[in-house]
Amino acid sequence: MNLIDVRKNAREKMKGVCAICRECNGVWCRGMVPGMGGAGDGSTMQRNYDKLKDIRIMMKSLHSAKNPKTKYNFLGEVLSSPMMIAPITGLNYNAGGSIKEEDYIDDIINGSIECGTIAMIGDGGNPDFYRWGIEALKKIGGKGVAIIKPRGNSEIIKRIRMAEDVGALAVGVDIDGAGLLVMASMGQPVGPKSIDELKELVDSTDLPFIVKGILSVEEAQIAMEAGVAGIIVSNHGGRVLNGTISSVETLTEIKKVVGDRMVVIADGGVREGVDIIKFLALGADCVLVGRPIIWGSVGGRREGVKLTLETLKNQLYQSMILTGVNNLEEINEKMIFRG
Ligand SMILES: Cc1cc2nc3c(=O)[nH]c(=O)nc-3n(C[C@H](O)[C@H](O)[C@H](O)COP(=O)(O)O)c2cc1C
Repeated sequence: MNLIDVRKNAREKMKGVCAICRECNGVWCRGMVPGMGGAGDGSTMQRNYDKLKDIRIMMKSLHSAKNPKTKYNFLGEVLSSPMMIAPITGLNYNAGGSIKEEDYIDDIINGSIECGTIAMIGDGGNPDFYRWGIEALKKIGGKGVAIIKPRGNSEIIKRIRMAEDVGALAVGVDIDGAGLLVMASMGQPVGPKSIDELKELVDSTDLPFIVKGILSVEEAQIAMEAGVAGIIVSNHGGRVLNGTISSVETLTEIKKVVGDRMVVIADGGVREGVDIIKFLALGADCVLVGRPIIWGSVGGRREGVKLTLETLKNQLYQSMILTGVNNLEEINEKMIFRG
């Protein structure tokens, strides 16, 4: 099996919900939420693609970076590269029934470990989604991160305990899920958090706490003040609010303010290894990959997820050679072409 076969297979199975376009630019799938697209007319997802594409990287091949090191230390866990699987739930309605939720969870948890990295599990309107993620994490000794919807604090804390019990590496909340009315319609209300509510969550656990869905310096500062260990600069793949900016537009100013006091993870449109260089050059410590992992799982199950991750890692390695960096620390803003 190779990645071309995996994607061909996935394209067949996902007919009507995802065309697995050569350019995953949010045009074909605009408005398909539920589905694989972006909300509204899809402009946020399209912006993720456009802004990332606009960033150009300087090529270098007269240097001695012959064998770059891609390893990344995430909160004490050494990963094969600065890339993890993004939390994704609701495969039954988002991926058109092409894969069962439990199978997807199994594929990402095991496929990521086999590629030397980890997955984040998500939470959704059906409480089983989170429980299945936790059960899958338990089988591999907890190596992963549990991202919980912004429910009431007592409900979140119950789910933090579940993550602690299986030895998860970190927990967090996708705070940008605060407006998901569909969660309320399923009897699982969500909403935004005040700084005191966020502090309560951070203080409720010894595990590192991560906030996913930050898009401004102001909110990064609030997260820092609440004592979180990391933020994920993200607009949820353009699925929660149409008309926002993309993460690459705000990453550098956020990193300048938070420095090394929090881990800065980012996502939105990572499709090739060079995209990881772009995100890191702009200030991210590591990235999350979303939709390509769904294609991998639907088209080739665990093997397809592994192939997707390995291909990205190999492309990153190759891109590091062609940009003249020996390790991740050497990736910086100077690598970006400023017209
Ligand atoms: C079908 C689908 C379902 C998602 N479900 C969740 C979720 O349950 N929790 C969450 O934090 N993010 C969720 N996300 C957002 C991803 O975690 C991630 O932020 C986004 O997909 C990254 O962009 P990319 O797909 O362009 O790589 C979902 C995204 C998609 C496409």
